[in-house]
Amino acid sequence: MPPSSDLERLARRFPPQFTWGVATSAYQIEGAATEDGRGESIWDEFGRRPGAIRDGSTGAQACDHYRRFAGDVDLMASLGVGAYRFSISWPRVQPKGRGDWNESGFAFYERLLERLSSLGIGAHVTLNHWDLPQALQERGGWANRDTVHRFVDYASEVARRFGGAVAAIATHNEPWVIAALGHEAGIFAPGIKHRATAYRVAHHLLLSHGLALRALRAQGLATPLGIVLNQSPIHPATRSPADMAKARLNDGLTIRWYMDPLLLGTYPEDVLEHLGADAPPVHSGDMEIIRQPLDFLGVNYYTRNISGSGSPLEPEHPERERTDMGWEVFPAGLTELLVRLKADYLLPPIYITENGAAYRDQLVEGRVADAARIRYLRSHIAALADAREAGVDVRGYFVWSLLDNFEWADGYSKRFGIVYVDYETQQRIPKASALWYRDLLEAARQRAEPAARTETSRWAGA
Ligand code: FCB
Repeated sequence: MPPSSDLERLARRFPPQFTWGVATSAYQIEGAATEDGRGESIWDEFGRRPGAIRDGSTGAQACDHYRRFAGDVDLMASLGVGAYRFSISWPRVQPKGRGDWNESGFAFYERLLERLSSLGIGAHVTLNHWDLPQALQERGGWANRDTVHRFVDYASEVARRFGGAVAAIATHNEPWVIAALGHEAGIFAPGIKHRATAYRVAHHLLLSHGLALRALRAQGLATPLGIVLNQSPIHPATRSPADMAKARLNDGLTIRWYMDPLLLGTYPEDVLEHLGADAPPVHSGDMEIIRQPLDFLGVNYYTRNISGSGSPLEPEHPERERTDMGWEVFPAGLTELLVRLKADYLLPPIYITENGAAYRDQLVEGRVADAARIRYLRSHIAALADAREAGVDVRGYFVWSLLDNFEWADGYSKRFGIVYVDYETQQRIPKASALWYRDLLEAARQRAEPAARTETSRWAGA
């Protein structure tokens, strides 16, 4: 059998109009942290705290994408990517998070959007991928209900300028991470360890999402609007009642705490009970605002979560394949998750807005042979096809990430890119996985072309 048939079979499991993309986020790639009037973000501040970032690095330089964006877009085009998910840095376009807009900041995104459009790549924009303006943090950040209104102003301004030129807008990336890792565990910016604050933050993120959707639609924007959630199926470590209960609670804390308000307009009772006095203050009308119709739901999937009394990394299971993050490679979890979401909620169309893996890539004679990442991507894309065939309406898939980049508290020590970045020279070297993805997308296009021709001829004949 020719080596390409495996790819062709995989490509054939997706419809011609399926969106194939790559994803990044502003703070992780842009660098240029003090250029052209950009304000400070909470990640700039967090990075200065001793020990906060594992390798002592910051996003000040990152991939220097602010200057190299044109080449990066060309690189995407050379891979045949149809869509690019990226985020706008709020402090770059509104340095203090309120008041004046920074025209040079907007000009950068305008140039980026022009380049994407000239190469036929759809822009999937995220408004908040964690880099809140530090000036707002000094006024309480997401724990302050006023930040909700600042976010709506920011969202409205971005939509007014760029709304018509983008394929989709997501309000927040992974509110669970902002709330739980940023405000309860304190291992991500802004580094707060206080459970009641974390749940107040979660509520404000959801509320700002709902208010922003209302405001953007009131502006007459027709662009699809949604939100991006990180989700993992939660499996009990054993069938013991204690582990089963723990898994159910973790499912509530990570999945239902976000899905229920967004789609049902309520918080899950069991989680409210668990939180007791730490549950957030909810004003009358809040829940109705949060439950706005979604044009799409973004799902970020990396692994499953095993809940129980033992360690989540379960050293007693050495046979389980893991990535360099220590995350188990568990593609079946993606199918399981999507099928379950469809059973429990009336879902909007789904996009897998992030999926990918960190490995210890080695650059050898100008090449990176990342066979493990290819296996990871292939198995997850097959699992996604399984979910589609089980009836889940999934419309697109974005690899995390286009480039190796600043992996938050892990700094540059984890490489998630399908393109290797030499941080000394800022050279980009497509890994074997990038070439594999290119070939998959090529196979998908070959399949799309006959359909496109049919469309044209029908139109021409009409
Ligand atoms: C997700 C983040 C993304 C990246 C990946 C590995 O939680 O949204 O920025 O860090 O994990």
